[in-house]
Amino acid sequence: MFLISHVMIAKHVRNTRQEVVPVRLPAVALLVIVLGLSLAACRDTSKLGGGGGDVSGNADTGKTLFTAKGCGTCHTLAAVAGAAGTIGPTLNGIATTAGTRKPNMAAAAYIDESIKDPAVFIVPGYPAPNQGGMLLPVAVTDAERRDLVAFLAQQK
Ligand code: HEC
Repeated sequence: MFLISHVMIAKHVRNTRQEVVPVRLPAVALLVIVLGLSLAACRDTSKLGGGGGDVSGNADTGKTLFTAKGCGTCHTLAAVAGAAGTIGPTLNGIATTAGTRKPNMAAAAYIDESIKDPAVFIVPGYPAPNQGGMLLPVAVTDAERRDLVAFLAQQK
């Protein structure tokens, strides 16, 4: 009798393990993959190079780029025909607003950062529009970003 129940218990334990292990492993693996991808994304954006508060770019080119790069699909900006997006905050008056977003960060530097890596500072009320809560930067070269900063720094 003792022997039989012992065997039954041992079998029960084995079955329980078999049920649990296959469920847990994929969940852990998924977590590792997700974390890995997030870290990879962070590394990529930090490699984009920095223009800081540089406003020496060409503002006219910046205005053209604003439309060409699709900024107007998410942002409203009166100075640019057709820029009426509402996914992101309005950029009317951004030259002024930008200076108030982060303590000790000048307007142009903040605009530059917002283009280079939008997820560093999230404007309250504007959760990231894309999947996973991450806001990915629009692909622009350093020179293009300088032009965009020069243009937006004029939008008082
Ligand atoms: C897919 C939509 C989307 C596109 C395209 C997009 N943005 Fe944004 N942008 C956002 C959202 C959402 C925010 C607010 C969240 C945040 O602060 O990161 C934002 C924030 C900003 C801010 C800061 C605004 C503030 O009030 O502080 C600037 C500046 C900006 N974007 C510039 C640009 C420029 C320039 C482009 C084109 C190169 C661009 N964005 C393209 C969605 C977008």
